[in-house]
Amino acid sequence: MALVIDPQIVEQMQWALRILKSDEPVALPTETVYGLAARVYSPLALSRVFALKGRPYFDPLIAHVSGIAMAKELVAELGPTTQKLMQRFWPGPLTLLCKKSSKVPDLCTGGSPEVALRQSAHPVFANLLTNLGEPLAAPSANRFQGISPTQYQHVLSELGSYGLAAVVDGGPAELGIESTVVRVLETDLRIEVLRPGATPLEDLQSFAASVGFTVSAARSVLDAQTMHHAPGQLAKHYSPGKAVVFLERDAWLNDAQVFLNLEPKDLVLVVNDADLELAKDRGLKAVYWVLGANLAQSAARLFAELRRFDADDKFNRLVVLAPEPLGLGVAIADRLRRAGGQEL
Ligand code: TXA
Ligand code: MG
Repeated sequence: MALVIDPQIVEQMQWALRILKSDEPVALPTETVYGLAARVYSPLALSRVFALKGRPYFDPLIAHVSGIAMAKELVAELGPTTQKLMQRFWPGPLTLLCKKSSKVPDLCTGGSPEVALRQSAHPVFANLLTNLGEPLAAPSANRFQGISPTQYQHVLSELGSYGLAAVVDGGPAELGIESTVVRVLETDLRIEVLRPGATPLEDLQSFAASVGFTVSAARSVLDAQTMHHAPGQLAKHYSPGKAVVFLERDAWLNDAQVFLNLEPKDLVLVVNDADLELAKDRGLKAVYWVLGANLAQSAARLFAELRRFDADDKFNRLVVLAPEPLGLGVAIADRLRRAGGQEL
């Protein structure tokens, strides 16, 4: 059984450090979701991350750094706009793709010439990186295609029986949804978004406008064969074991019939209070859960609520009402859409 480490106890954090140094992964809290951390510079440690997660080797890992200085070790060249994005959004939930240096093992990038970089704002993660003095690769600490963990107990239920050595209990993740992944195309004056996440697109757009850039979605998002260009964009991902139906906003707002198709063991997931009012106006009578009063709260609770639904025998299907595609609503909708993929 995995060791649960209390970050308040200095001696226990030294155990975490020792385990990492011995090339064994340790699950750590970040402000987005829990990550399964291992030394970037150790292919052995990286291979253990893939094995524990059951993740295919071509799906690359994010390298977490203590700041821009450490990022520079990992990149062949740091473009000026990439560096400005780091200065503006780090530490925080923004991951940037850069040309990798020869110090980064191919295993970390799934054979891609680019490495993904992020500085976590979580004090426990930051503290460990400072003490270790080298970068840590960390994908979300769930089994491949499972639901990302936002509490240490979720990590134990995902990886405890697969040989996880230790998890540090940093409390519930504050943001609850993974980082936004971007790439800067310097000559096109463009920031390309590969995965929407906890840094809202609007924040990237206002930064982009200030430096004369635009923001766009990456083109190839759904090619399972050439996943280098679209990792994290597998159609099915973040999946509970039961059926999930995603109702596009236009469908549930404007189709008067839609709620008539609900079945007795359906649970309707409403993202926030404002949407509940709209749904009731349109005749929603089924059993529902509201994720949060506002989008920040909804994001923080999203993955824990998907787990709760999965474990609840009263329901055999989740019917999601798409939120407004604004702010965190974009990332919440992305995760919920890919949790499902079924028609009502
Ligand atoms: O918030 C987060 O980003 C969390 C915490 C732990 O930091 N990490 C996370 O890692 O979500 P993961 O592996 O579950 O998702 C990272 C995404 C994946 O879709 C991965 O394929 C993509 O980033 N990615 C990583 N390296 C890449 C690369 N070199 N090129 C393209 N995509 C990459
Ligand atoms: Mg993940």
